[in-house]
Amino acid sequence: MKIDPWSSTTYQDYSRLRDEFGIEEFNEDTWKNLPHPHKLLRRGVIFGHRGFQLIKDAVIKNKPWAILTGLMPSGKMHLGHKMVIDEVIYYQSIGADISIAIADIEAFATRGYTLKETEYYAINDYIPNYIALGLKPEKCRIYFQSKHQDVKDLAYILGKKVNWSQMQATYGFNGQSNMTHVFSPLVQTGDILHVQLKKYGGPRPTLVPVGVDQDPHIRLSRDISQSHRLYNVTLTKDKKIGIFIKIDENVGTLLDKAEKALRKLNFQKLKRITEYKAVYIEDAGEKDIQKIDEELIKIETKLGEYGFFSPSATFHRFITGLTGEKMSSSKPDSAIFLTDHPDNARKKIMHSKTGGAVTLAQQKKHGGKPDECVVYELFLYHLIEDDKELLEVYNSCKKGEKMCGECKKYAAQLMEKFLLELDKKRKNVKDKVKKYLD
Ligand code: TRP
Ligand code: SF4
Repeated sequence: MKIDPWSSTTYQDYSRLRDEFGIEEFNEDTWKNLPHPHKLLRRGVIFGHRGFQLIKDAVIKNKPWAILTGLMPSGKMHLGHKMVIDEVIYYQSIGADISIAIADIEAFATRGYTLKETEYYAINDYIPNYIALGLKPEKCRIYFQSKHQDVKDLAYILGKKVNWSQMQATYGFNGQSNMTHVFSPLVQTGDILHVQLKKYGGPRPTLVPVGVDQDPHIRLSRDISQSHRLYNVTLTKDKKIGIFIKIDENVGTLLDKAEKALRKLNFQKLKRITEYKAVYIEDAGEKDIQKIDEELIKIETKLGEYGFFSPSATFHRFITGLTGEKMSSSKPDSAIFLTDHPDNARKKIMHSKTGGAVTLAQQKKHGGKPDECVVYELFLYHLIEDDKELLEVYNSCKKGEKMCGECKKYAAQLMEKFLLELDKKRKNVKDKVKKYLD
């Protein structure tokens, strides 16, 4: 299996994806200590993560942390795009500091849009929708990749530690790939890591909420962030905590500084082996790694290095299109656009592919299949807030008490209410949008 961020594959087997790519499971233990966890977190729509522990720690200990995500406006914004923004709004409400990249370089490189077209969609559709959905623009930076000098500079500089074989292996580039396309993952890495530059808040835990198709970019960014570190702290094979210097210059000084920081953290049993460029800490355990790493990052930034925290990520499932295929802007019947007229949305819902049986009699007897129903997905991802009510829909469908006709009507009704309210809010924010842009 291969994850291609630019293909239109839908992924069916999320647990297999998780296993194959070493993505960690996002489950109740992961979200349970967060304040008022969002429904997408509670319901398994977010099914995997990398390094979320770092974020949870920051939230619980009230330390600074950042969100960086990006969207590629190609066509109008639909329900599939709404998920990431719902997450961002939730994270904003629990104290994250938010940055959002409008991926115009990527849309140019991979979808054939001009920068102007992307700008048009961003300013007239995406950003007004973000704000209407509840994003607070005052506490948030929204920027265009093509206009952000620091992001582009970082992309160039970080590119130094990536070679062509790695890009080929990760993305399947070949002799025909155009260079803008080849470069766009580095721009995305620039997006992800620039929020940790001093000017943008300095090194701190950073969460990138995305769809799982973005995992190659996440792996690349995590790799690159670590290749710019001077220290590495890990659990060794014989279960000791070791700090290793990753470069060959100034090893003695770096070991001195590390030892000093460790003593300050009250570790006593340090064993330095200069030829391994290492300090082992006999009285530390796995639980101390993060705390130690944070001190090492401080040393690195004082030396003028980046000192990046490895960026964390969460991965959400994709909502199925109403026709049963992928929800996509290029197939209007598959998608509900946030600017759709409620009548139009109703029509699409009434024609959608449900998990109902062929005849009413059969459905009464055997029940429906909510797990294979796009109407149920609408409830699960977007329309029903209350978990009890959702469970009630699920169970009554399975038991054959609920029929698809009435169920679709109910979904259409909730959708109508949502779209009308959003439209009202959008009208109020439209003029303000330009002003908010960086
Ligand atoms: N590649 C993302 C997409 O296809 C958009 C994006 C650009 C992004 N920069 C980002 C996502 C940084 C997360 C983080 O939609
Ligand atoms: Fe889907 Fe509702 Fe039909 Fe069940 S009753 S299959 S949830 S539309």
